[in-house]
Amino acid sequence: MNELRDVALGAMQHAYAPYSSFRVGAALEATDGRVYAGCNVENSSYPVTVCAERVALGAAIAAGATEFKRVYIVSSGQAAASPCGMCRQALAEFGLKLEVISEGAGGEMMTWTLEELLPSAFLLRGEDRD
Ligand code: THU
Repeated sequence: MNELRDVALGAMQHAYAPYSSFRVGAALEATDGRVYAGCNVENSSYPVTVCAERVALGAAIAAGATEFKRVYIVSSGQAAASPCGMCRQALAEFGLKLEVISEGAGGEMMTWTLEELLPSAFLLRGEDRD
């Protein structure tokens, strides 16, 4: 768990967030133990912004990982940030049993399953993925 947290904190240091100044880091752990990092990447055209969770997911997919155990999220906000709706949907594609752990800069910790965060998820290929 500490390694995962360190990866998330390291990624957060690279966050590109000049518009919101809200920095986020994510560490996504595959079932085989490999860990993928992501940070938020903002853009002058605001909607082009990508969240840390989806950057980590993209890195994982690009490396060939498709099964995940947990994701550890850290942010510069005081409270533990819960993943946005788009990230919930993106992660749900790969399984609703994912453990989502979030830590705020103020020390608040929150833990959910993705299923709790996104009940009744829309999935075209979900039947065999719990
Ligand atoms: N953000 C994330 O990276 N993850 C989330 O789950 C919520 C929001 C980013 C997007 C944007 O760069 C900044 O936080 C403020 O919304």
